[in-house]
Amino acid sequence: MIPGLFVSGTGTGVGKTCVGRGLARALRRHAVAVAAIKPFETDVNPVARDALALARACDRPHLAVAAGLYRVPPPLAPYAATLEGHPPPPPLDTLARCIRGLGEGAFPIVEGAGGLLVPVSATTDVADLAAVLRFPLLLVSRDGLGVLSHTLTAFEAARARALPLCAIVLTSFGLRDTSAATNRRILQERVPGIPVLAFPEVPGIDALDGAAGDAALADAADAAGLTALVRSQLPASPAHASRRR
Ligand SMILES: Nc1ncnc2c1ncn2[C@@H]1O[C@H](COP(=O)(O)OP(=O)(O)OP(=O)(O)O)[C@@H](O)[C@H]1O
Ligand SMILES: [Mg+2]
Repeated sequence: MIPGLFVSGTGTGVGKTCVGRGLARALRRHAVAVAAIKPFETDVNPVARDALALARACDRPHLAVAAGLYRVPPPLAPYAATLEGHPPPPPLDTLARCIRGLGEGAFPIVEGAGGLLVPVSATTDVADLAAVLRFPLLLVSRDGLGVLSHTLTAFEAARARALPLCAIVLTSFGLRDTSAATNRRILQERVPGIPVLAFPEVPGIDALDGAAGDAALADAADAAGLTALVRSQLPASPAHASRRR
């Protein structure tokens, strides 16, 4: 049984928010109450786009504007933004308390910033928040040439920190190359026991309106087997059973 999920990945732009939106919406279809949260968001000018998209997908708009989460304008790692003179992120245990409070009575899905080892301060990184929360990782990586080493490097980093992995999610969008024919198979061989899921492309996702995009991404989460995998690991607690759909 898992208490929540931490959506991280091999880097920025690999599809974490799309996966998180899809999973949140798909779980809502099964009447699971979800709190999808973006604790660190940079490039907020002035809108925290990931936070808004996640909050909409789980039908909890207040999560996008909740106090206590880190928001800064420059498109930088949090530690880099601090070095540029912006306020530092809250301490990780403070942030974790805030996330737990926001996620109370719901299944929390937390999206990290960029890749797993993005620096949050001089001594901490995104992976440390996953460790403090004790949520298993969904490791998202983009299918294509380079994904094998990127994914296995992130996997090793997670293992070195004893972070449990729920699944690796391979996203596929834009230009394809021939590596896609074997990437999933090779990754699955290298990480036996960890599901490697193929999250399909949702063509034109950025042009769809929010609700239509969420629905299409939920279909993609279903098609990947991600919804079923997570549902099979949800706590039995009635706290997650929602009356709203
Ligand atoms: N499944 C998908 N189908 C189609 N396009 C996708 C998919 N996943 C991602 N994309 C494309 O990649 C872009 C970036 O995806 P997304 O915002 O989910 O990445 P991210 O890893 O959350 O990035 P960030 O590090 O900025 O949070 C999307 O705006 C979309 O254009
Ligand atoms: Mg994102």
